[in-house]
Amino acid sequence: MEKRVSGISVIRVKVTPPGDKSISHRAVILNSIAEGRAEISNFSPGGDCLSTIACLESLGVKVRRQKPADLPPSLEVWGVGREGLREAEDVLDAGNSATTVRLLSGLLAAQPFLTIISGDASLRSRPMGRVIQPLRLMGAHIWGRGEDSLAPLAIKGGSLRGIEYTLPVPSAQLKSAILIAALFAEGGTTVEEPLPSRDHTERLLKAMGANLERNGSRISLTPSPLAALDLHIPGDISSAAYWLVAGAIHPNAEVEVVNCGVNPTRSGILDALRDMGARLEIIPQHREGGEPVANIRVQSSDLVAIDIDSEKALRLIDEIPLLALAACVARGTTTIRGAGELRVKESDRITTTVKELSRLGADIEELPDGMIIHGGRRLRGAEVDSHGDHRLAMTLGIAALIAQGETIISNAEVADISYPAFWQDMGRLTKPM
Ligand code: S3P
Repeated sequence: MEKRVSGISVIRVKVTPPGDKSISHRAVILNSIAEGRAEISNFSPGGDCLSTIACLESLGVKVRRQKPADLPPSLEVWGVGREGLREAEDVLDAGNSATTVRLLSGLLAAQPFLTIISGDASLRSRPMGRVIQPLRLMGAHIWGRGEDSLAPLAIKGGSLRGIEYTLPVPSAQLKSAILIAALFAEGGTTVEEPLPSRDHTERLLKAMGANLERNGSRISLTPSPLAALDLHIPGDISSAAYWLVAGAIHPNAEVEVVNCGVNPTRSGILDALRDMGARLEIIPQHREGGEPVANIRVQSSDLVAIDIDSEKALRLIDEIPLLALAACVARGTTTIRGAGELRVKESDRITTTVKELSRLGADIEELPDGMIIHGGRRLRGAEVDSHGDHRLAMTLGIAALIAQGETIISNAEVADISYPAFWQDMGRLTKPM
């Protein structure tokens, strides 16, 4: 699908972002192996989380989806307990979702049957050696294409033993795969993370009764059954971020985002916008499943450049293309470093972001692990491409709102991976608050 977007003169909008993608994956996976039935409302409607549901259904989990046309999806999940999964009849298809492959690898490593899991071309190019190595140390039989580095993965699960493991890359997916496997292992497991990555798995495991403790950068878990947990998934800050940045960079804007998750391991984009001088207000609401939720308001702002290091980058890793866009209009030069992981996302997001923002007139350079953006530019409409990457498609959509003239975005439908209503929500931008 090709999307044509032109600059608009006013933005006045109140948006409810879709349910958080990371929390949705974890909520359905952990409830699948819990004791009892759980109701999960505001589940992410994105393609990635639907891939996770389909894989779990193939493994014998009963999931009922209710999707009245005007409401976000809600699910009922009947947990099969620790020993209730069964061998799938066919290869599991994780679509575009690395979270699905990596988190399920941890789960499948402990099951006494064979599973083969694969996905689309982008997913089959993403690094999987990082999960194979620790799961093998735990005693799993697991192989991958490309000398055990790529999907499809073949996993013949069995009995596991706990390990002490320092993550070689700061990845929440890797940490979560090990913690999920550890639920089934003999003895305790300790994971040490060099930098704090998103901690949704830990919060949910605790809320479901797991024996989990964090001591500084070390997370320890001993096996235990999980209790089913009903929860309402908070709005996805990674989806909300598009409208927050739109509000901050547009000259005549007022944006309010409601019911948005503001877990501190995910809210780096809010800190970055504040550091850039954005007129941003965070109004705390309540907690959902151990996660803080807030409403966030932003108005047109006069932004200045900032520097992002590896710790900051990790707290806004999926928002970096969007931050690069904000930096294009900010005064001064922004440097983003320590974000080499962007090279192994749905696209090589350093190369694709630099290439596509440059087409719109940005002054932006690639670094091996980040980018340098010379701000103060007026963007102009052009033909751009999403490279099959949902985050880039949506970033280009927001860029088009402040560019002069029309922007044509090809492969724009890929936004469906995390935010199927994105283009529809964009159409509402000038509706009164
Ligand atoms: C995610 C973790 C991050 C993030 C991804 C979702 C998760 O990936 O980029 O979109 O849900 O755990 P890594 O674990 O590869 O850093």
